[in-house]
Amino acid sequence: MMPDHEFMPSQPGSMVPHVGTYRRILPVNAERMFENAVDWEHLPFQHASSFSAIECEDAGPWGWRARVCNGVGKWSLIELRLDRRQRRWVTRNLEGANSGAEIWTYFLERGSNEIEIFVDFFVPGIDEPAREKVGRAYAKLYEVLYDEDVAMMVGRQEALDQRVEGVERSLEPLDLGSLAGLSFPLSVEFGGRSLIVSKVDGAYSVYPDRCPHMLAPLADVPLEGVVLRCPWHGYEFDVRTGECLTGQSCQLTSPAAARVADGRLWLERKG
Ligand code: FES
Ligand SMILES: [Fe+2]
Repeated sequence: MMPDHEFMPSQPGSMVPHVGTYRRILPVNAERMFENAVDWEHLPFQHASSFSAIECEDAGPWGWRARVCNGVGKWSLIELRLDRRQRRWVTRNLEGANSGAEIWTYFLERGSNEIEIFVDFFVPGIDEPAREKVGRAYAKLYEVLYDEDVAMMVGRQEALDQRVEGVERSLEPLDLGSLAGLSFPLSVEFGGRSLIVSKVDGAYSVYPDRCPHMLAPLADVPLEGVVLRCPWHGYEFDVRTGECLTGQSCQLTSPAAARVADGRLWLERKG
């Protein structure tokens, strides 16, 4: 049985039986969608109920191949191959749980920030009468996965649209008010940047409200001691130094530092 939408003419289709299709309009552009497809790192953090762990074997602009542990503790080897020109990617379960299953995703651009996505599920070894039920289960799962992805993709686009690079050199110190009246964490605007001031171990740390990796919002992320763990991909940072504690090559760089004077808290430009 063919999926209930048109394939691109060059699309060969899967040799595995088709069990169902999921389609949805998403308020994102093609770039955010491609980025999300190749972003293997977000799976255990944004989709924690479906993926509990991932070990990447290989990744690049072509896609990724990784060992993935699902929500019930079963491992499988999954490969995602992206074809940007055809606006399509195919995810194959190569080994382990659901081995042989393929998920073909394709989208059409409906507007500058709107795409329609079609996801076809191909699953081997399912008798014809049971295929519809299995297809519905896959569609339900994908509804949840895309619910979880939309906020991330939209949030990242907003951050890219608003991003202001650098801080004006002439910035004057900013009086945040009497310490007695302040509660932390505190969100402040300074030199066109949105910053967070937190009180950790009696000292004040200042850091940007967007993650340096892919700009996840950090304002509502609670600290664990001095550690801030980004919700999108789990990178951890020491908010006192900005150092990335999970080993990736990015830093939480603050353009400002906090200073206490006469019972008041001030923000001033660093360096
Ligand atoms: S956006 Fe990826 S770890 Fe923060
Ligand atoms: Fe996702």
